[in-house]
Order: sequence, then C-alpha cells, then structure tokens
Amino acid sequence: MKALLNWLDHRTGYKLLVHEALNEPIPGGARWRYITGSMLTFTFIVQIITGFALWTAYSPSTQTAWESVYYIQHQMSYGWLVRGIHHFAAQAMMILLGLHFLQIVWDGAYRAPREVNFWLGLVLMQIVIGLSLTGYLLPWDQKGYYATKVATNIAGSTPFIGQQVQQIAQGGSAYGHHTLTRFFALHAGLLPALLTVFLALHVYVFRRHGITVPHSAQGKPADTFWPKQVLYDAAGCLVTLALVLYFTLTRSAELSAPADAGEDFPARPEWYFLFLFRFLEFPAISKMGVAFGAIYVPTALMIIVVLMPLIGKSQWGHYFNRLFLVAVLAAVAVLTGMTIIEDNHNESHQAKLAFAERDAHRIVVLAARDGIPQNGARELLVNDPLTQGPRLFARHCSSCHRFDGHDGTLQKIMKTVEENGVKKLIPEPATAADLKDFGNREWITRVLTDYDATFKPLENAGEKGQAILTGEMSSWCKDNQKALTDPANAESLKALVEFLTSQGGRSDLGAFDEKLVADGKEIFKGGTLKSGTLSSSCVDCHAMKVAGERTSLSEGAGAGYPTLTGYAGRDWLKAFLRNPAHPDFYGDKNTMMVFDDKRLSEKELDLLVNWMTGDYYLPPNAHHTK
Ligand code: HEC
Ligand code: HEC
Repeated sequence: MKALLNWLDHRTGYKLLVHEALNEPIPGGARWRYITGSMLTFTFIVQIITGFALWTAYSPSTQTAWESVYYIQHQMSYGWLVRGIHHFAAQAMMILLGLHFLQIVWDGAYRAPREVNFWLGLVLMQIVIGLSLTGYLLPWDQKGYYATKVATNIAGSTPFIGQQVQQIAQGGSAYGHHTLTRFFALHAGLLPALLTVFLALHVYVFRRHGITVPHSAQGKPADTFWPKQVLYDAAGCLVTLALVLYFTLTRSAELSAPADAGEDFPARPEWYFLFLFRFLEFPAISKMGVAFGAIYVPTALMIIVVLMPLIGKSQWGHYFNRLFLVAVLAAVAVLTGMTIIEDNHNESHQAKLAFAERDAHRIVVLAARDGIPQNGARELLVNDPLTQGPRLFARHCSSCHRFDGHDGTLQKIMKTVEENGVKKLIPEPATAADLKDFGNREWITRVLTDYDATFKPLENAGEKGQAILTGEMSSWCKDNQKALTDPANAESLKALVEFLTSQGGRSDLGAFDEKLVADGKEIFKGGTLKSGTLSSSCVDCHAMKVAGERTSLSEGAGAGYPTLTGYAGRDWLKAFLRNPAHPDFYGDKNTMMVFDDKRLSEKELDLLVNWMTGDYYLPPNAHHTK
C-alpha cells in the first residue's frame, strides 16, 4: 500500500498538496464561525450527487416532467429519499449562504486585500439563487408553475429590456414547454458549471489571503487546519446532513398537482423569497410598479453590498456595513413573518391551499390505480368526478346553493357591504338548499321531519321560493312532524327513509337493509306508522315506480309534485338539472336555472352528477368524503 502511494506521489505530487491543504495555518486558532464555507461546499456536493441521481429519471417536458417526478417520488427505489435530500439541502444552502455572508461582513472579511474574493462570493450567491429559482419549476407542478410565472413576469418588468429578458427566460413569448427545457439546461448545466468555476476561484483566492481574524481571536495561538478546524467543519456538515435527513423523513418534498394553466393556484414563492413577495404587496410599493419594488430597490441594496469593501475601509464604514446588513436581515425576517401570519389568518387563502392539496393527494390515488395516461397525468384529474364535481358546483350552482356552507371548493361566498362608510365582507346568504347531504339518509330524514329548516334558504329566493316554503310539502311536514318524530315511530321513520334512499341506486350510501326497505315501501304507500297514520301518504302526491318493479306504485298527483322514482340517483338528478321546471319536478313553481347542454355539456353533467351521487373511484378502505 505504502509503495503504491509513494508511486502515486512520485507521479503526481499529491502529498505536497494534501500537506498544504491540511497544514494551512489558522491564525487566532480554529473557530466554529469559520465552518459555513465548508458546509456550503459540502451541500453543493450533496446537490451534485443527488442531482445526478434525479437526472437519471427526470424528463423535462410539459407532458412528462410531473410524471417523471411522480415516478421518482412514488415508484423509484429510494427516489423519495434522493428527492427529499435534494429538496431540503437546497433550502439548507440558502440558510448557510445567509450565515456565511453575515459572518464575512461582521468580521470585516471583505476588507483589502480580500475585496475581489468578496465579489466572487456575491457572484456565487447569485448563482445559488438562480439554481433554486430554476429548480422550483422543474417538477412542473402547480406550485412551481405559478410561482415561477410570477418570477418571469417580474423579469419582464425590467426597465428598457424587460421584454427581451422575459423572452430569454421563458424561451419565447409564451410561458410553457420551452421555459421548462431552458430552466433545466440552466439548472443542471450552466449554473452548476459556473458555480464550480467560481467556487474554485473563491477557494483559491481565499487560500491566498487566509482567514480574517476577528478581534476577539487576535493574539491567540494559531492552529493548523488539520485537525481541529477539520473536525469543526466535519461536525457542521454532519449536522446539516442530519437536519436535511430529518426533514426528508418527517415531511418529504412536496409535489402538488400537475401544472394547469387554466386552474388557479394560491401561488407563493419559496419561503426565502416571501419577503420580496410581501414587499411588493405594500400599496405604496405596488403603486410605483413592479419594477420599482422588484428591480430598483433590490438593485440599489445590492449596489451598497457590492460597495461594502470600499465603504468598510474606515472603522465607521465597517460599522455602517454591519448595521446595514442587520437592518436588511431584520426587514427580511419581519416581512417573512408578516406573510406567514397573514396567510395563516387568510381564510380564503387557506381554503385554496387545502383544496389544492386535495388535488395533489387525489392524483396520487388515481395514478396508483390507472397508471399515467398517454397524454399526461393531468387527464386523470380532468376526467375525475371527485376533482371536477366541486369545481362545476362552484361555477354553476354556488350562486344559489351551498355545499357544507361553502361553494364546493371550500371557499366561503362573501359579499361586500358598506356600514357607516366602512366596507365589510360578510357571508352572502344562500337562496337554495345546502346540498352536501343531498339524497342521503340524513337529507331525507330532515326533509320529512323539518322541511322548512332544510329549505330555509328559499326564503331569500323571491316570491316563488317563499311559495315553496309555504307549499304543500311544508304543510304536510308540519301536520306530520309530531307523528314522525315520536320515539314510538323511530323505526317507521327509519324504514321510510331506507326505502326512499334505496331508490336512487347509489353506491355511496352503503348497504340497504332489505327488511327496512320493504317496511318503508308499505308506509310510503299506505301511510300507516307503528303508532298512528300519516295525514296523507306519499303516493297521494308523488309519482313512484319502485326500482325493479313493473307497475308504478302511483302516478303522482300531477304537475309540480316532484317524482320520487329513483329519487336523488344519477338519472333523477340528470333529468332534474336538465329541466327542473318539468311537470315531473317543480313545474311552474320552479325558480332554479335550467341547465341545458349549452350551460352544461353532457360530460360536465356526468362529472357533476357522479360527484354528487358518490360515483367515483375510491381506494380500498377509504370513506366517501366529497
Ligand atoms: C338560480 C339559483 C339556482 C341555481 C344556479 C341552481 N339551483 Fe338548484 N335549486 C334552486 C332552487 C330555488 C331550488 C328549489 C326547487 C326549484 O325552485 O326548482 C333548487 C333545487 C335543487 C335541487 C333539489 C333539492 C332541493 O334543494 O330542492 C337540486 C338537487 C339542485 N337544485 C341542484 C342544483 C345543482 C347541481 C345546480 C348547479 C348545476 C343548481 N341546483 C343550480 C336554485 C338554484
Ligand atoms: C300533499 C302532497 C304531498 C305529500 C303527501 C307528500 N309530498 Fe313530498 N312534496 C310535495 C311537493 C308539492 C313537493 C315540492 C315542494 C313544494 O312545492 O311544497 C314535495 C317535495 C318532496 C321532497 C323534496 C324533493 C326535492 O326537491 O329534493 C321529498 C324528498 C319528498 N317530497 C318526499 C315525500 C315523502 C317521502 C312523502 C311521504 C312520506 C311525501 N313527500 C309526501 C307534496 C307532497
């Protein structure tokens, strides 16, 4: 072994190099505060290694990027681990960059003769920021897509050359496929190459001048790099790696739904850019235009940073630099905190996030069942009732109905009112029933035992709506409320409900109790309860052809008595939506909109109705939650 190493040394002279590297003197002794540089280099190496591993499976195109990241995250062996490390090490790098910068400025390490190296460091900082910006887009998920869109629009606001800059960044006049390929070329090619070159220069120049000894260490005995500082550095790197692993194992890197230009997303940049996002939101700043807040101000601050070595020539200048840096960091911290707190208190934003999270979760379920379709994963969501139903509901129904109090997509429906000259947001009252439970056992129980409460919002639906609230079903309910809520009749009510729910043929309501269904049918027809009878039975008014039977139980009382044949099932609901004013439904009493195929295509109708009737794929053991 020794002979071999000697042979190698003779040919390469590596021993001298190692000797020089390890015996580099550290005046004032080894210190913890010098470790950030090594930690940065270490995380960069981690990024190169994990980056290459990710590259073996990543495929940059709008049709395949998300799909390949999905593969890495959910199918490739240890893909989630590699991706998680890459994801969290990138964040660690941003923090380390801040710490490194703080240490350099605080200790005055930018002073002559180290100015050039300080500037090299600033270049490195820009490259790292570039790497994180470009990396954010690569999964081509909603989150990265929308955040990066904001960033490229900001680039477009650059004075004079904005449009050209934006076109270069985007790879053309449109934000899309070529943005992705370009960002990938930057992220995996140009930027790491530049980073390597500048890092080499940075370390080389650093070695030329050595460490800047802070005041507190002056006069203390010198160390050599080996062993003490090497130990400190190694400990720092290990802690970084441990933290990165901790985050990877506990929260794993996020992957939101595949990017969709037509689908709104509550975009926020990565947390380390939140301050800029918040800064641009100030009315005073946004009034000045995006370029002012996003380009002029940061450039002005950057110019001061670049000039730090010159400003810091005098002791007062150095104090100014320290103060300046601390002030900027404090402002960044405050703005970041403000964004987080405000977002947490913003109900609408939280609802959007929660809804987006549903998509992210849902597509994984669908992809696990179906695999990825030829035309990309987005198709899975486009054809999924559980994904599209709420959206269609929000678009077409939520102006009158609510769904569990919201618009289907978890958004509350609000309106602005003026009170003593102050504008306030208050919930907009519904004008039709809340349809979350439509057609299930609770719904039917409620309709029969408390019609008025179930349809209370109709009181806001004008004269015709109010007429329904004082109509025949309402008075029938009042007449029979006592009998139906009598504990002695609990079983009868249950039977009636079971019978009616069983007619829709819905699969989301669980198994039906055959005996109850049979009993319910008799009550429906004859009106005889365990204790007493109904004032009139259902068949006196409602048409009903029992599922699977040839003859009708009743033909109904005529127009405006909603048919209960197949009530709340797929066919009933489709026919109802296509024409609620049909004599089989509400007839002249109807105030609901008619959804012909111009309003709602056949496919949309299917998606909506399948969602409302619970007809969509659920993984084994999952429960229906709409
Ligand atoms: C313009 C307001 C309005 C819109 C929009 C509207 N509805 Fe209605 N809806 C009503 C009213 C009012 C009723 C009560 C019966 C009637 O007037 O026909 C009703 C009744 C219903 C019913 C029967 C149960 C009940 O509450 O009586 C269902 C189911 C229903 N709507 C579903 C929908 C769906 C699904 C959409 C969207 C595709 C929708 N509605 C859009 C106003 C509306
Ligand atoms: C006196 C006639 C009458 C009787 C009896 C009657 N209903 Fe009704 N029912 C109506 C009318 C009319 C409506 C439509 C609302 C209105 O105009 O009052 C209605 C509405 C309903 C609805 C709501 C449909 C929707 O919009 O989703 C259900 C469910 C229902 N009835 C079930 C029953 C059941 C079950 C019985 C027997 C236990 C029954 N009804 C007895 C007249 C009657």
